[in-house]
Order: sequence, then structure tokens, then C-alpha cells
Amino acid sequence: MSNHSKQEGRGQWASHFGFLMAAVGSAVGLGNLWAFPYKLGKNGGFAFLLIYLVLVFVVGSVVMVTELSLGRMTKRGPIGAYSALDKRFTFNGAISVFASFIILSFYSVLGGWSLKYFLTYVLEMFGNGFHGLSGADFFNSFVADPVQAVLYHALFMAITGVIVLGGISGGIERCSKVMMPALFVMMLAVIVRSVTLPGAADGLAFIFKPDFTVFQGSGGLAVFAAALSQMFFSLSLGMGITICYGSYLPPSSNILRSAVIIPLCDTLVAVMAAVAIMPAVFAFGLDPKQGPSLLYVVLREVFAAMPGGAFFGALFYLLVFFAALTSSIALLEVTASYLVDERKIPRKKSVFWAVAGVFATGLPSALGFGVLGDVTLPTFSGEMLGILDWVDYVGEYALMTIGVLIMCIFVGYVLGPKRVIAEIERDGTVFRLKGVWSFMIRTVTPALVLLTFLTATGLLKL
Ligand code: PHE
Repeated sequence: MSNHSKQEGRGQWASHFGFLMAAVGSAVGLGNLWAFPYKLGKNGGFAFLLIYLVLVFVVGSVVMVTELSLGRMTKRGPIGAYSALDKRFTFNGAISVFASFIILSFYSVLGGWSLKYFLTYVLEMFGNGFHGLSGADFFNSFVADPVQAVLYHALFMAITGVIVLGGISGGIERCSKVMMPALFVMMLAVIVRSVTLPGAADGLAFIFKPDFTVFQGSGGLAVFAAALSQMFFSLSLGMGITICYGSYLPPSSNILRSAVIIPLCDTLVAVMAAVAIMPAVFAFGLDPKQGPSLLYVVLREVFAAMPGGAFFGALFYLLVFFAALTSSIALLEVTASYLVDERKIPRKKSVFWAVAGVFATGLPSALGFGVLGDVTLPTFSGEMLGILDWVDYVGEYALMTIGVLIMCIFVGYVLGPKRVIAEIERDGTVFRLKGVWSFMIRTVTPALVLLTFLTATGLLKL
């Protein structure tokens, strides 16, 4: 096979709707369901939401347009894209592939937990009754058990692998087209249940009451930085995914429209998640500011107390599972496409090795709540983190932000904004805001990414 026909054979999205569902699926994930609601609550509710919205469209869309264009322009994943455009920057493609690889290694552990919770609620629904344990005890005994910790991580990676094996349109697109609309409907059902509980109004007030005092003093900058890092992670930027997904776009696709729709849907689901979770947490008098334990500890208490809790628990964790799965297939595709495109390894083998590699890398994270519970690792600021949190820290805060920063510099000053504008306009689209976009990608965006890097890694204390 010639190189050309090989490239043609990489696959393409079968429909624009399918591409959008896959891209929204990659964006909508645990970041929306678990991190966004508690960050919203902790950082001033509506005030945080407003800043977040501005950042999504002023910074997020700018980066997303760029990544989609780099992908469609080169028809390659991140490593291939940079090496086709300028070999000196191939390392930046490698950074994002590495970042997506290690992020998936711990993301899969968390995704496995959602599977465990879903199955537990299904059993409870069919008569087993609730385990008499408190939310914390249930969670702690589960994650400390090495057999279960490894089993669910393995199961989650296996399911991810099977979907990615099906290829772009046959696997990723086909599943996303079913899972994302289903997620939306399930979310609506959970919202109706949550907001009709007695006492729910306090939860809504907690989310939507603007508390502008959080912006006073240097705290304001901290809230701003928190919104920024949440935004990058939630939109799946800097991870090679958007470049990779963009590379399967036909030339006729409208990049600008996609770069508005995807962030819009992602933000909508994040707000919906807060509306689904917070009223219920308040209705049962639980603590909304518990942070990370919200999804797997606090909500377990909520469902135990709620009428119809087993059913809604099953529904909710199926939704969480779908959200995590559509993100993990995107993360796996980045590594798989590298092996297929650049190493010329057949897709089947590529997916197998990618799954095996991610599974092995994720083992310490999976065991980090039990047998490896005493292991902690340092951040730049000297804080000590458990294994899973530390891998998250390296992938999400350090590598992802560096990747986006270097991309801004590359596009703004080396490749030149004109190349990207030409790509966007290739399908006949008129890019009215090209002046604004060029300005942003050269100045404001890299400055804000740098701020995110410094604050999220702890190098700069606010
Ligand atoms: N955006 C996903 C979420 O919000 C996580 C993710 C990050 C997925 C990076 C892919 C790449 O959970």
C-alpha cells in the first residue's frame, strides 16, 4: 500500500453529528460531573459560573479552533501533525500523547469505580437491599481491596479497548451517538428527582446565588486560576485529542461552529450536573464542600436516604460511566492513532498494546488506596500527594498546560496564524473574527495558560 492510500485508510467521521457527539463525549467526563459542581460551590457559585463561561468562549474556543485546524490540516494525530509542520516541535506532540496516556491510566481507575457503583445499585435495586455501610465505609472498603481495585480498572480498560478497536466511525462514533444523548436524558431524570426533594431549594441557592466576595483581594485571582484550569481539563484541550479528532474531519466540516457547539454542550452538562447533585446533597443535610469525595462518598449517602434511591443510583452511575467512557476512548485513541499512523502497526495490535500499557501504568494508582496507601509523592510546592492524585497532577496540571502553551507559541510565532486561518476558510467559511483570534493566540491565551501552569502546579501561590 502506498503511503497515500494508507493515509486515506485512517478512517473519517461518517457524519457531522457523529463527530460532535464524539467530541462532546470526550469533553464531558468526570471533570463535569464531579469537579465542576464542587468547584462552583466553593468558589462563589454564580460568580464562578460567569467567569467560567467567559473563559470557555474567550480562551477555550480559541484553543479548540486551533487544535481542530492543526488536525484537519495535517490529517495526523499530535505527533504526526507537529512533525509534518515543523520537526523541531514534534516533541510537543509527544508531550500531549504522553499526557493523554498517563491521564488515562488514572482516569480508568475512577471510571472503574463508576462501573462498580452502577453494578452495586443494580443489585440493590433487585432486592439485595442497601449494604448497611455508610458512604465512607462502603467506599473505603471497596478501594482498599486490591482485587476489586485491579479488576474494575481492568474491566474499564477492556471496554474502552473494544470500542476503540472498532475504529473511528464504526467504534467511537457509533457508541458516542448512543451514549451522549442517553446521558442527557438520564441527567434530566436525575435533575427532576433531585430538585423535587424537600429542602432542594437551598442547593439551588448554593449554586446560583452570586457571591462576589470571593473576588476580593488576591482570592479573586485564585478563583480565576481555578476556573482556568478546570476549563482546560473539561474541554479536553492540550491532550492531543482535539488534534486527533480534528484529523478525522472531512474538509467540508465547519470548524468554527464545532468550536462553539462543543464547549457549549460541555458547559451545559457541567451546570446540569451541579443542578442534579447539589439540591439532593442539601436536601439530606450533607456537606457540599467535601470536594473529591462528593461523587463516591457523599452521593452514596444521598441515594441511601432518597425514595427510589437504588433506581436513581443505578441511573446516575450509568450516566457517570458513559461520561467517563466517552472520555477514555478519546484518550486511548491518541496513543492508538500514534501507533497506527507513525509506527505503522495494525490497529488491532496498536489498541492491544495501548490498553496493556495504560493498564500497567494505572496499577499503582489503582492500588494507591490500599496496599500502596502509604506512598506519597511531592509536587513542585512540596505538597505530598497520594499516587493517583500525583499522576493527575503531572498529567493535568504540568504536562497539559505546557502542551497548550507551546502550541500557542508555535502557531502564533512559528507557523503563523495565517496557516490556521487558511485551513479554517478552506471549506468556504468566512472567519470574521480572525483578527481577534490571531491576537488572542499570540498574546492573551498564552499568558493565561502560563498563569494556569504556574498556579495549578503550585509554583506560584495565590
Ligand atoms: N474532559 C474530560 C472530563 O471533563 C477529561 C479529559 C481530559 C478527557 C483530557 C480527555 C482528555 O472529565
